[in-house]
Order: sequence, then C-alpha cells, then structure tokens
Amino acid sequence: MIRDALIYLSGNTLARRVATHAPGARAMARRFVAGETVDDGIAAARALNKRGLKVSLDYLGESVSRREEAVAAADTYIRLIERIAAEKLDTNVSMKLTQMGQDIDHAFLRENVKRILDTAHSREIFVRFDMESSKYTQRTLDFFRELWAEGYRNIGVVLQSYLRRSEQDTLDMNGMGARVRLCKGAYQERDDVAFPGKPEVDGNFIRLMRLLVGSGNYPGIATHDEAMIRATLAFVRETKTDPSRFEFQMLYGVRRDLQHELHSQGYNLRVYVPYGEAWYPYLMRRMAERPANLFFIVNAVLAESPLAFLVRRNDKA
Ligand code: FDA
Repeated sequence: MIRDALIYLSGNTLARRVATHAPGARAMARRFVAGETVDDGIAAARALNKRGLKVSLDYLGESVSRREEAVAAADTYIRLIERIAAEKLDTNVSMKLTQMGQDIDHAFLRENVKRILDTAHSREIFVRFDMESSKYTQRTLDFFRELWAEGYRNIGVVLQSYLRRSEQDTLDMNGMGARVRLCKGAYQERDDVAFPGKPEVDGNFIRLMRLLVGSGNYPGIATHDEAMIRATLAFVRETKTDPSRFEFQMLYGVRRDLQHELHSQGYNLRVYVPYGEAWYPYLMRRMAERPANLFFIVNAVLAESPLAFLVRRNDKA
C-alpha cells in the first residue's frame, strides 16, 4: 500500500515540485544521492574507490521530453566520463534511456547515446543502461541488440527478477555474452507482467542469479537482501566459481555495513552512486523499497539540527 503510494508519487509532477522546494529536502536527499554536481559525484567515487569499492556513477534524470534537455544530459555524461578517465577512477557509468530521448525519437536517441558510447569506448569505460518500467523493456533490449550488432561491447543491460519475461531475456543475453545487472525491479507493474509477491520475485532472482553466475559474462548481482546474497555465496561455493567472475552491486547509502563486509571477504562490490538535481523520483523509489527510510531520513536531518538530542543515529540502512 505505502509502496504503491510512494511509487505513484515518484511520477507526480506536483508532488515533485512541492518536495524539491521544501526546506531541508536537499539535506534529506543527501543520504542516498551524492550531491548535485559532477564534482560531487566524482568526490564520492574517489572516496569509495579509496576504500576498495568500485563505483557506477549515475547522472540523475529520466522521462525527458525536450531534445535540448536530452542533449545537455549526454554532454554531462561525456564530461563525467572524461573526469573518470583523467582521475583513473575504478568507476563506470549507468544511465536511463528515457533521459537520452527514448520517448522522443529513435534516431535522436541513437545519436545522443552513440556520442556517449564513443567517448566511453575511447576511454575504456563501461556504460550500463538502467532498466525502467516494463513499458520500456522490449525497446531497451532491442536498442541494446542494435548497438551490439554494430560492434559496441562496452555496454550492458539490467534485468529485473519481478518480470515474468526475464528468464528468457537472461538466456538470450547469456547467449550473446552480454553483461547483465540483475535486480528485483523498482516500478509498479501489473500482475500479468510481473510476479506480485516477494516469494516469487525472490525465487526468480535466485533462478536468474544461478543462470548468470553459472554461465553469464561478469554479471552484477544487485541486491541488499541478505537471503539473496547468501544464496549467491552458496552457489559460488557449490560451483567453485572464482569471485573475479562476478560482482555484487548496492546503492549509495544503503547497507554500507554489508558493502564493506562483502568487500573485506574478497568479493567485488560496486556502489551505484547517483548525483544531480533530478533526485526526486530516485529518492521516492528508495522510500518505496523501505518505507522506514522516511523515518531514517527525518532522523538523519534531526540529528544534524539543534534537535539532535531527540534522536539516536542508525547507520545500518
Ligand atoms: P528487498 O527490497 O527485498 O530488500 C531487502 C532488504 O534490503 C530490506 O529489508 C532492507 O534491509 C534492504 N533494503 C532494500 N532497499 C533498501 C533501501 N532503499 N534502503 C534501505 N534498505 C534497503 N531497479 C530497476 O528497476 N532498474 C534498475 O536499473 C535498477 N538498478 C539498480 C542498481 C543497483 C546497484 C541496485 C542495488 C538496485 C537497482 N535497482 C534497479 C533497484 C532494485 O530493483 C530494487 O528495487 C532494490 O535494490 C531493492 O531490492 P533488494 O534486492 O535490495 O531487496
């Protein structure tokens, strides 16, 4: 119920306007978003790299309907990639195709994305296409295949275990040798498209994880769910898979304790670091995943205010 309401609000323009202008809103977002500028994103990546964690930087933005905005977003990605390369960071980038013009026109999307991919290729940087709602799944995978057929290999996709179609997509991507990030999925979907309950979503996550870790190309297992992580570690031990063959991925500000624990056990761990001014829908999806984050964030803001004596800090989330 709360999840549905928060996901609905993530796409609501009025709620977005009110929330982003509310006093203290930026401070609240800071728990899950590295800041608003390229410098902020790079600084967060540098700090995480220093602790041995890999990074994927995401310049926030989605559902763009104006060409100028999509071109500006691509320009920002190009600057970002150049900074990553100049600083030799262990960092790749993630992007949403609706930020690049997927809702505008296919030729325009191609042109915009290829500018980024060409720069990324020349700097040997990998680009991940995030997966948005199921309205975009087929188009995103088709576009990915189109680029793959043109010879781009510095690209990867995301598959969501809540989608009924994902098992076939996983087999197809494994067949191509494409790099996949597996996650559960963060959007509101109909029951005929997505599994409605957590047990089925989790069961499918484990099934797809086994396909990917077993025969995929350096998959990213993206979850904070300890049961999914335990299942992955058990499969890795059972199949004697070398830890260098895959990575775990987690979101910036979420389960930092677990991020460090897995890294200290010798597993590759990549942190997804979003930055930029368009943080509202991203933040609302994080709230929907764990409504307790609402209280966590209010707590964090109070803790840094004169009312700090009212709250105790909790760094586990
Ligand atoms: P689940 O939601 O079952 O949560 C398990 C436990 O993890 C919770 O009990 C809590 O302890 C902790 N937890 C989970 N989310 C939390 C949060 N926001 N704050 C605090 N604790 C939390 N989705 C998508 O549709 N397209 C995409 O491209 C991506 N990309 C992506 C990249 C990376 C690196 C990650 C980690 C996730 C995504 N996602 C995504 C989001 C993903 O689909 C999913 O919504 C969240 O990861 C939450 O699912 P979990 O697997 O963590 O499990």
